[in-house]
Amino acid sequence: MKTVSICFVCLGNICRSPTAEGVMRHLVGEAKLAERILIDSAGTGDWHIGQPPDERAQFAASRRGYELAALRGRQITASDFERFDLLIAMDDKNVAALCEVCPAEQRDKIRLLMEFVPATDGRWDGAREIVDPYFGGAEGFEQVLDQCEAACGGLIAALRPQLVA
Ligand code: 4NP
Repeated sequence: MKTVSICFVCLGNICRSPTAEGVMRHLVGEAKLAERILIDSAGTGDWHIGQPPDERAQFAASRRGYELAALRGRQITASDFERFDLLIAMDDKNVAALCEVCPAEQRDKIRLLMEFVPATDGRWDGAREIVDPYFGGAEGFEQVLDQCEAACGGLIAALRPQLVA
């Protein structure tokens, strides 16, 4: 059985990448692909290792039916580039930080999450990034969820051809 493994990556691993992980797990479950698409998340920084997701992220996610409470922050390691087929970053700074620790032959595994928003979804006006909500208000966490929902739907569609047994 073919599988694809994905690690979502942000700076702290307490706001955006756990949100992407929670949304993706939910959508993958609905698509009956939980055994085929393996999901994790990590941060490029080390400040929040071992911590649960930011309470604002947990609250906003739980109102949409995504449960983030069991997740814990961790920092990306060199071995993650071997373990995962795709490392999906939230913003360009995350990509730059990943490139610093990524073996040259694994660089093409690094992508931006917003690349996967379907072209027919005109809401984001070509936005490349999931903007960091940490220093902003509650609306930032809602936008992160909106973007993750749009992009993860497109990501599942993009992965389906790779899963054909
Ligand atoms: P995240 O958000 O990268 O989406 O998890 C942040 C979390 C923590 C910090 C910055 C962004 N921080 O500066 O501690």
